[in-house]
Parts: sequence; C-alpha cells; structure tokens
Amino acid sequence: MSDSDHPRVLISEEQIRDRIKELARQISLDYADKGELTLVGVLKGAFMFLADLSRELTVPRLIDFIALSSYGRGGAESGAVRLLMDVRESLEGRHVLIVEDIVDTGRTLRYLTGLLEARAPASIRTCALVRKQARQEVEVSIEYLGFDIPDVWVVGYGLDYAEQHRTLPYIGVVEPDGLR
Ligand code: IMP
Ligand code: MG
Repeated sequence: MSDSDHPRVLISEEQIRDRIKELARQISLDYADKGELTLVGVLKGAFMFLADLSRELTVPRLIDFIALSSYGRGGAESGAVRLLMDVRESLEGRHVLIVEDIVDTGRTLRYLTGLLEARAPASIRTCALVRKQARQEVEVSIEYLGFDIPDVWVVGYGLDYAEQHRTLPYIGVVEPDGLR
C-alpha cells in the first residue's frame, strides 16, 4: 500500500474542523480561570490534531510533546508501552491536557496518565480525537472526545498504517491484509 491509494473517507476534513472548534470552545470555557494550560501532544499521531486544536483555543497555553511506542503488530496488540521521548517542561503544579489521536485498547492512555500523574500536576485531563469504544480493554477517562468510531483501522490526519497516510487531511479507513 502506498500514499497514492485513497482510503475511504470515514470522517471528512469539514467534520474534523467543525468538531475541533466545538472541543476548543469547551476546553477554553473549562480552563478560562485556571491560568496557563500545558498541552501534551502524543507523537507521532497527534501532531496534526494538536496543531489545529491549539490554534482554536482562547486560553493561555504551552505546547509540549511526548513520544510513546506500543510493541506488537499494528502498534497496539501486545499492550506493552514504551517511553521514547519525554516532555521538556516540568508539569509540577500545571494544568495538563493530554492530546491523543486515538484511543484503542486504552493501554497507551492509561500508561501515560500514570506517568504524568506521578509528576504532581495541578490537574490532568485527556482530549482524544477518536475512540474505538468496542476495543477498549482498560478503564480510562476521556474528558474531551472528538468521535466514536467502529473497530476499523483508520489512517490520515496524523494516523498511520506502517507510516503511510499520516498527512491525509481526512480520516479514512484501510483494510490491511492480516492486521486483525
Ligand atoms: P491503545 O490500544 O489505546 O493503547 O492504542 C495504541 C496505539 O495504537 C494508538 O496510540 C495508535 O498509535 C495506535 N492505533 C490504534 N488503532 C489505530 C488505528 O486505527 N489507526 C492508527 N493507529 C492506531
Ligand atoms: Mg497514539
């Protein structure tokens, strides 16, 4: 499969744009009187979502990144999570909003929440663009959710299949052979 193939549209550019505006409005309201917010984008998948979401916010904010990797085929199957790159800034006493591309089993998010909670932030919440609710294995809270999607492999808008399709402007579906 290459980037010249065109995955079927699941969530269009316009739907993504509209939903991000709604999420940003809600987040800006909720953090209006809390001082500066730290947005922690989870690389690589959340880079595009973070870029668009952060520009719609009206509250003071800092941008940071963390990179995680899941072992196993398809990136999610074994459930083991590894820290590849940590945030640059201290999170102590900060209001932290984790910005994730997708929540599948929930293991990545649970690992990340545990990791960051240990650093004594003032608060910690999560914003995820999409969630596959049927696949969720562990309890995680997502305070700001873009879309619930069925159990399909999605690409685009930051999401990949074997590093392909990340820069598609929409979220599409691929059916890679033998993935599931
Ligand atoms: P988890 O199962 O919730 O821990 O998700 C692990 C990671 O698998 C996510 O952060 C994504 O990087 C990746 N992932 C899960 N489902 C998809 C998908 O449909 N498309 C692209 N990446 C996915
Ligand atoms: Mg991810």
